[in-house]
Amino acid sequence: MSTIIVQDREGRQVNINATAGLSIMEIVRDAGIDELMALCGGCCSCATCHIYVSPDFADHMPAMSADEDDLLDSSEHRNPLSRLACQIPFSDRMAGMMVAIAPEE
Ligand code: FES
Repeated sequence: MSTIIVQDREGRQVNINATAGLSIMEIVRDAGIDELMALCGGCCSCATCHIYVSPDFADHMPAMSADEDDLLDSSEHRNPLSRLACQIPFSDRMAGMMVAIAPEE
């Protein structure tokens, strides 16, 4: 079983198990971390699953769709490491990656 590190808005970090094929959003939500609200359930329409990914794993990220890009543009907290967690299927190449939950809008 692979793991990822999730950093909450207070800066606390926790290791959680990660299953290939689930999205990062599903993995974080299923671990009981409720800061990632994911209101649309992963339909890429709410942006409440905004995270920052580790720069050293950027090459392992899937390409960003135009819809994800548009949604992130609506966030005042967007930065070059921003992604929507529901749009990233976890793969074992991402094992050990840290994701930080973006500030609430
Ligand atoms: S859960 Fe709504 S955009 Fe990701």
